[in-house]
Amino acid sequence: MLTAARAYESSNVTFRDGDLSTWRATTPVDLVLAAASLQWVPDHAAVLASWKESLAPGGQLAVQVPANAHAPTHVIATELANEEPYLSAFGAVGPPHDPVHENVLRPDEYARILRDLGCSDQRVFLRVYPHELENVDAVVSWVRGTTLTRFARALPPEAFEEFVRDYTLRLRRHYRDVAPVFFPFSRILFWGQLPD
Ligand SMILES: C[S@@+](CC[C@H](N)C(=O)[O-])C[C@H]1O[C@@H](n2cnc3c(N)ncnc32)[C@H](O)[C@@H]1O
Repeated sequence: MLTAARAYESSNVTFRDGDLSTWRATTPVDLVLAAASLQWVPDHAAVLASWKESLAPGGQLAVQVPANAHAPTHVIATELANEEPYLSAFGAVGPPHDPVHENVLRPDEYARILRDLGCSDQRVFLRVYPHELENVDAVVSWVRGTTLTRFARALPPEAFEEFVRDYTLRLRRHYRDVAPVFFPFSRILFWGQLPD
C-alpha cells in the first residue's frame, strides 16, 4: 500500500511507515484521521489520548473502525480455528484472537472517550454498508485481506490454504450457496473536535 501511495507524494503530502499506537506529530496538527486501522491495536482510550496530544487547538480526530466481530465471516473463522486439526497447528499459543472483537469498543464508549478528552463537539454513529458480493468466493477473497490475515500469519502457507478451503465450505453452508451474497458490513464512525 505504501509503495503504491508514493505515486501520490507531493510538496505537502508524504507517507511514512510507523505504528499508529505510538505515533506522535512533531508539530501540532489540525486533523488525525484513521480509516480502518485503529482496530488492529488495543487500548483505544490510551491511543486516542496520545493522538489528542498531537492536535492544535480546534483540532479534530476522525476515525472509522469495523464493528463486525459478530459477522458470520468472523465467527465461523474463529469456530474453525478452535477445531482440529487447526487447533493443534496453532500450538501452545492457541488460535489468534480477532482484533475487532478484542479491541473495538461500543459507539457510546467512543462518545465518552471524546467527551473525556475535552472535545467540545462530536458525532458518533454506527453505519451498515449493504454490500452485495458476487458469490461466496468473493466473500472469502474480501476477508483474506482482513480477518483471515491473522491465520495467514500463524499457519504455514499450506495449512493456511487448507484452512481457507474448509472455511469456504462452511461459509457456503451458512449462506446456502445463494448468489449474490448479501454482505452487510457494520462500521463505527466517530469524530470529535477540540475547542479553539
Ligand atoms: C484495512 S487497511 C486500511 C488502510 C487505509 N487506511 C485505507 O483506508 O485504505 C488497514 C491498514 O492498517 C495497517 N496497520 C495494521 N496495524 C497497524 C499499526 N499498528 N500501525 C499502523 N498501521 C497498521 C495495515 O498494514 C493495513 O495497511
